Amino acid sequence: MEFAFSASDHKAIADLIYRESGILLPDTKAKLIYGRLARRLRACNLDNFPDYLARIANDAEERARAVDALTTNHTAFFRENHHFEHFHRALWPGFAERLAAGERVRVWSAACSSGEEPYSLMMTILGTDKVAAERLAHQDFRVLATDLSPRVIATARAARYPLDTTRALPAAMRAAWCRRDGDMEELAPVLRAPIAFRELNLLRGWPMKRPFDVIFCRNVMIYFDEPTKAQLLERFADQMVDGGILYIGHAERIPPDVSARFRCIGRTAFQKVS
Ligand SMILES: C[S@@+](CC[C@H](N)C(=O)[O-])C[C@H]1O[C@@H](n2cnc3c(N)ncnc32)[C@H](O)[C@@H]1O
Repeated sequence: MEFAFSASDHKAIADLIYRESGILLPDTKAKLIYGRLARRLRACNLDNFPDYLARIANDAEERARAVDALTTNHTAFFRENHHFEHFHRALWPGFAERLAAGERVRVWSAACSSGEEPYSLMMTILGTDKVAAERLAHQDFRVLATDLSPRVIATARAARYPLDTTRALPAAMRAAWCRRDGDMEELAPVLRAPIAFRELNLLRGWPMKRPFDVIFCRNVMIYFDEPTKAQLLERFADQMVDGGILYIGHAERIPPDVSARFRCIGRTAFQKVS
């Protein structure tokens, strides 16, 4: 090992990351912490973890980089596709009617990582229909897509993905929405138009004033402890319209403390109870 990494270094980092992001980094994550932060030590020209800890205690920018480095951003187009199918079948017909009548519809992809989740939603809504995309661009439909990590938000905004990533898309959708650019593919502007990407820590204040019809919050609560999950879900319920829908990841559950606020309506799909 290039740098010594003691149990007390691990604990100090885990405490800081928990305070900043809610992410738990138990003993089993020692290798992950070391691997991801060793790069930061080198970038800061430091040769030991205690000095790096002193640095991040006083330097908010480097602290944010450490938190960012310790997020796990794994995602994919159409991951847990049953949610997109449910959205398309059960929600979109009603939303389309409301939008045609001039009403607003809002979706939040909370912890969207590099954007595959909200872009999959757009492809779910539009299929391969570019005329529908132009029409939707003039209706009051918006998707807010947020993540703690500035790195993944920058990727999501750029909407450029390696071929290995876009190859997973259904062929017709790929043909409709992706444009080849070297060894990358870029998504069409009209598909991107309704989505606003923002950096946002779910544990801090939320600037959004109005409620959402649907929230996707998938595969982030697995990193949180029970009180953090319960608090977050309580806040999601407050930030949704009555009857709004929440989708969570396949390994996630609604803790008993907040179960009165949601009714299960399908596989990891919940409706806010009025
Ligand atoms: C595994 S990805 C899930 C992406 C996507 N929702 C999916 O299911 O494919 C988890 C994301 O949660 C983000 N995250 C972790 N803690 C967060 C927090 N406190 N606030 C906002 N985002 C957070 C990470 O940066 C990461 O991009």
